[in-house]
Amino acid sequence: MGSNGRGYHIADRGLAKRGLNRVDWADQSMPVLRQVRDEFARARPLQGITVGACLHVTAETANLMRAFRAAGAKVLLCASNPLSTQDDTAAALVREGIPVFAIHGEGHKTYYDHLRAVLDARPDVTLDDGADLVSLLHTEYAESSQRVIASMEETTTGVIRLRAMAADGMLKIPVVAVNDAATKHLFDNRYGTGQSTIDGILRATSVLLAGKNLVVAGYGWCGKGVASRARGMGANVIVTEVDPIKALEAAMDGLRVMPMSEAAAVGDIFVTLTGDAHVIRKEHLARMKDGALLANSGHFDVEIDIKALRAMAKKVLRNVRPSVEGYALKDGRTLYLLAQGRLVNLAAAEGHPPAVMDMSFATQALMTQWAAKNGRKKRLEVKVHDVPKAIEDRVATLKLASMSIKIDRLTAEQEQYLRSWDQGT
Ligand code: ADE
Repeated sequence: MGSNGRGYHIADRGLAKRGLNRVDWADQSMPVLRQVRDEFARARPLQGITVGACLHVTAETANLMRAFRAAGAKVLLCASNPLSTQDDTAAALVREGIPVFAIHGEGHKTYYDHLRAVLDARPDVTLDDGADLVSLLHTEYAESSQRVIASMEETTTGVIRLRAMAADGMLKIPVVAVNDAATKHLFDNRYGTGQSTIDGILRATSVLLAGKNLVVAGYGWCGKGVASRARGMGANVIVTEVDPIKALEAAMDGLRVMPMSEAAAVGDIFVTLTGDAHVIRKEHLARMKDGALLANSGHFDVEIDIKALRAMAKKVLRNVRPSVEGYALKDGRTLYLLAQGRLVNLAAAEGHPPAVMDMSFATQALMTQWAAKNGRKKRLEVKVHDVPKAIEDRVATLKLASMSIKIDRLTAEQEQYLRSWDQGT
């Protein structure tokens, strides 16, 4: 059952008070979203719109849901990962009248039943973190896809999927690559993933990073963030990459770069952030040191070949600590897998801090308003839309103002110079 018959499905309504404190605490660090919410409350730009969101059910997401509701939308929320749901936050939202379908630790079937419960409400706009709702809208719910004005995509993995669908001519709904906005990936992916991934590893293990060899697989914005934070705490960071430009960038950032086959033998801690499958495979597991820690911070739990790890183990030590499982291998070594290979920053910690989700979710809110305004009467083109520069600039300007930071403006002469082409040496 996606719903318990009451129009929501959560672990425990009794957690609402704790959840409200958590959501209000996050709200204090989300000034841009708050300003957008206040504007929404005055103009009600989403009146008559149903928003169906499949996002990590966190305090930060709760504040985005509040903004949609202030805008006049009917809102429903389900989880974009079975281990990232904060049950108290879910209860707080239900207390505020927002239907939530998410339970921390839910199984595969319940996870999908919860997505269906959101799509059964026939949303006009959907929000995804990993494209799971959009995938259902192209398969089981294909008949509903025509009514969807647009779908927002929050994460790199989802945008990659959507661009692949568009390239194959398979995309049926207009989608917005919110992840690709500078106000999202430059801050959320880099500083958010950087800090929250380290936070998850530390909460799970209490490991000392100083002096450890920490292997970062993937030097995209998320990998860069983790590498820089780990380095700042004294780890010797090693980067593995398949992209020559990114590998070069890592090398010139002063990091060691090598293939995973070599890194496997020297790493103490491994973090995957590639968005691809089986980055750590059997041949790598076979070379790792006794006691190595394995964590994933990519969207799906496919980056570490857990099946191979299981097959190599003679015993799995469950709950060595919360979020830590030990794989006692037949050769006597033990490898430790964090958060079952799911995103460690959300499963073992609280995800990105609110101050950075502020920008991502203000962008989400403004793009939902944009989609409702531009796609209500006439369908938006079915393609992957980028966030308009004006919206990115607005979010960045509001964030700077909230931080009391002022910047320069171009003088008339400078503007003229930038437009000219006839002034050289
Ligand atoms: N993704 C990463 N961190 C998050 C958070 N705190 N809330 C929602 N989505 C997230």
